[in-house]
Amino acid sequence: MSSALFSKYKMRDLDLSNRIVVSPMGQYSAENGCATDWHMMHLGHLAVSGAALLFTEATAVNLPGRLSTSDLGLWSDENEEALGRVVAFCRKHGGAKLGSQLYHGGRKSSITTAWEGQKPVPIEEGGWTPHSPSKEPYPGRNMPEMLDEAGIKDAIADFAAAARRADRIGFDVIEIHGAHGYLIHNFLSPFANKRTDAYGGSLQGRMRFAIEVFEAIRKIWPERKPLGMRISATDWVEGGWTLDDSVVLAAALKKRGCDYITASSGGSVPEQELKVGPGYQVPFAERIRREAGIATMAVGLITEPRQAEQIIASGQADLVALGRGMLFNPRWPWHAAMELGEPVYYPPQYERSHPKMRAGDFLKPRAET
Ligand SMILES: Cc1cc2nc3c(=O)[nH]c(=O)nc-3n(C[C@H](O)[C@H](O)[C@H](O)COP(=O)(O)O)c2cc1C
Repeated sequence: MSSALFSKYKMRDLDLSNRIVVSPMGQYSAENGCATDWHMMHLGHLAVSGAALLFTEATAVNLPGRLSTSDLGLWSDENEEALGRVVAFCRKHGGAKLGSQLYHGGRKSSITTAWEGQKPVPIEEGGWTPHSPSKEPYPGRNMPEMLDEAGIKDAIADFAAAARRADRIGFDVIEIHGAHGYLIHNFLSPFANKRTDAYGGSLQGRMRFAIEVFEAIRKIWPERKPLGMRISATDWVEGGWTLDDSVVLAAALKKRGCDYITASSGGSVPEQELKVGPGYQVPFAERIRREAGIATMAVGLITEPRQAEQIIASGQADLVALGRGMLFNPRWPWHAAMELGEPVYYPPQYERSHPKMRAGDFLKPRAET
């Protein structure tokens, strides 16, 4: 029987050769938002990994939307040019389709890098005032400015402008980052959104910003290209954003042309009580898929080929994204293909590394991409 994990998948005009996705992972290695040599190396080697789709890290749509000064960005011509070089490089040498994840860090902005501890950077030390739906800080971080209606419109326009740049560079997919306590999630969650206007209060009010960002990007993003959203399916705290809310949001986005939802979780408040274990967020992807009738990407401690196979084969999700597992073992898809007896993309330069080739058996390990 052939593998579900290695079956093809189509979203709009995008053909994926299997269901394996490299999850977006922030590198804190950009300069003024511009991709550097690190991105060439990091994304370049993941582009030959055999994963069908490779996401670049969360990419800031404007200056206040950066988490740190080393965030990747797409707010300027220089950013577009620098990332364009990386995309062209991955395209030339790799087999993966390429996705851009667009974000605004919201009330979590103005921090140091991951390896400096993600400590808040106060204004006096070169930090900045985060933007958020309300004057409600993420505990320990800078007091945010509450976006007024004009500020909201500007942020939406910045998302759309970055999407236009992502299209010009040649990205195949955009994932809007609506998770992990960043701006879109700030609007969704009652912990960060205390507004009493049309962008707050009821579930419909809190969803409005996410929907308007989606609509603005869908309008300019080519019809043939898929557009999805990553959400935190739950805040993991009583009184916060819930899985029920996520189903409602996913259905509303689907109605507007959303192609998939990535079901992540958490990040809204430090008191969250995450229950972490193998595939711990898969049930979120499964329920959203079933109840909102939308394709889902499962993510979070998916580490074993047979586990990933089971998620796709049982219909819990349409795609699986791997983050840390791909950093630890960037050839994970090759090993999974071996275990499941399937062909996978190899760059021709590396074909002879395939164990079957080593044994003198000239079976082609390569799948068409
Ligand atoms: C180094 C690192 C950076 C990350 N940066 C991002 C990011 O830019 N955007 C995002 O949505 N998730 C980010 N994440 C979360 C991952 O995409 C993924 O959802 C999470 O690590 C769980 O999957 P895993 O268990 O396969 O690593 C990051 C995770 C890691 C380890």
